[in-house]
Amino acid sequence: MHLHNLLRWVILILLLLSIFKALSGWQQKRAFSSGDRRVWLFTLISAHIMLLVGLYQWLWGRYGILKADLPEGESIMKNKFFRFFWVEHPTFMILAIVMITLGYGMSKKPVPDNIKFRRAFWFFIIALLMILVAVPWPFRVGIGRPWFPGM
Ligand code: HEM
Repeated sequence: MHLHNLLRWVILILLLLSIFKALSGWQQKRAFSSGDRRVWLFTLISAHIMLLVGLYQWLWGRYGILKADLPEGESIMKNKFFRFFWVEHPTFMILAIVMITLGYGMSKKPVPDNIKFRRAFWFFIIALLMILVAVPWPFRVGIGRPWFPGM
């Protein structure tokens, strides 16, 4: 869980860098470089590691669907906490990771560099918004988690 908590910051920083690279490339009509590809690749790798860690927690973590029981008489969709960690958070995050994958995929597409940058920019922006909406930030009532591990 500590790894999952910390990786959130790694992904957010790399995703912001990827967005900056895509936007500057698009606006300045730069040629796509190996430096751009590298930042997008690290973002992809961190997102895929997060997917594996998240899937593990989702199945076998302390509230994993194979380990934890819903409180007596509750249904998933009526219990805010379980609905968030079993359904909403994983769904949004998996979709965000798909967007990051599509964004990275633009680096390999045989299209003009300007289009690579523009499309990747939008994929990364959508991913960022989905992540921001679905993180259990400390101020979120009933589901809030610490800013950093162990806080
Ligand atoms: C970009 C992707 C993701 C981000 C930024 C993210 C972020 C977070 C954060 C900040 C927490 C709270 C950690 C803490 O309590 O210290 C959390 C918890 C959790 N996440 Fe994610 N997550 C992502 C992807 C996923 C995915 C793909 C899954 C499942 C398929 C998942 C399942 C969970 C579960 C089950 C918890 C609760 C773990 C527990 O309390 O035992 N996450 N996530």
